[in-house]
Amino acid sequence: MNVQGKHYRTIWLHPSDPTIVQIIDQRHLPHQFIIEDLSTVEAVARAIKDMHVRGAGLIGATAGFGMYVAALNASRSSMAAFMADLRRDGDILCATRPTAVNLEWAVKRQLEAIEQAGPDIEAMIDAALQTAQAIADEDAEYCRRLGEHGKELIKEISAKKGGEPVNVLTHCNAGWLAFVDYGSATAPVYAAHDEGVATHVWVDETRPRNQGARLTAWELVEHGVPHTVVADNVGGHLMQHGLVDLVIVGTDRTLYTGDVANKIGTYLKALAAHDNGVPFYVALPSSSFDWEKRDGLKEIPIEQRGSTEVKYIQGLHNDEIVQVLLTPEASPAANYAFDVTPARLVTGLITERGICPASEEGILNLFPEKRSNQ
Ligand code: MRU
Repeated sequence: MNVQGKHYRTIWLHPSDPTIVQIIDQRHLPHQFIIEDLSTVEAVARAIKDMHVRGAGLIGATAGFGMYVAALNASRSSMAAFMADLRRDGDILCATRPTAVNLEWAVKRQLEAIEQAGPDIEAMIDAALQTAQAIADEDAEYCRRLGEHGKELIKEISAKKGGEPVNVLTHCNAGWLAFVDYGSATAPVYAAHDEGVATHVWVDETRPRNQGARLTAWELVEHGVPHTVVADNVGGHLMQHGLVDLVIVGTDRTLYTGDVANKIGTYLKALAAHDNGVPFYVALPSSSFDWEKRDGLKEIPIEQRGSTEVKYIQGLHNDEIVQVLLTPEASPAANYAFDVTPARLVTGLITERGICPASEEGILNLFPEKRSNQ
């Protein structure tokens, strides 16, 4: 997508040194646009854990490139030693964040591809590079495609409203910053906007890290999409007053049964949407499906992060990014990063293959090759 008119993805190889991976360090957005170089597995792991990069698709793509960096740095004394280093590094990457399923998916895909390319170690490193690039390219292409499918929902509503702006509410950042390009929840919005369909986005601020207020709002400004940032608790009120036509959110892990893990607060939006008859869609590339777990509430690991994210808020003051204490210093704070929205509250899933009901039947009809997994 475009930043000040220049096209960027969220992750790429350094143009003059292909052993270095470059990312946009999202901790500084929207106030500073900083590119970071990564050339060790430790640096890649830190970038994921401390959220220089974040969002399910981008976490997966970063893990893919992380395994390429691991391959460059692994022991070359034998294939066994090389693979042992890679497995250890894969474990390090997988331990960074537990909820987004794309992370373990990308590491597993890399280990299989690298092992298959053996026993020549140069060929294995090349396979790691090709796979990292394939994961990133697929992520971008799948998001583009799901945007085309989701656009039809917006166009239908627009037609019913006689061309009046379609009001879409979204939570957190499932935009291009959360993927390699296009985004999931925002891809239908960008596609509709680019086609001239009047669209307006309600952007939940998304405490505690404010991915909506900082990142989604920044993306929408860069793309020229009309939007309004609202405090997290406003969505229910907007829906009661007919000011939301459609909710579209992303997901960090969606089970093949239709249960959806997404940023904390998503469940409350789904409840409000259900109560007010507002369609509630989840947009995802297939890399965010978990084909093994059945019960979202019992089985999806929910990340708990440090209390400082709740107690402090970050912003710009005198041209400097600062953290400000919000709560009494002595108050403990809890920081559950995700929640699970049960399938029954989800109107449908927007995927690269089309839109389906959030049910085992609906999902497996779209991905029949996964029936054998169950
Ligand atoms: O903690 P984050 O920022 O990595 O959380 C992920 C998210 O941005 C959201 O949950 C998003 O809606 C799904 S990821 C595409």
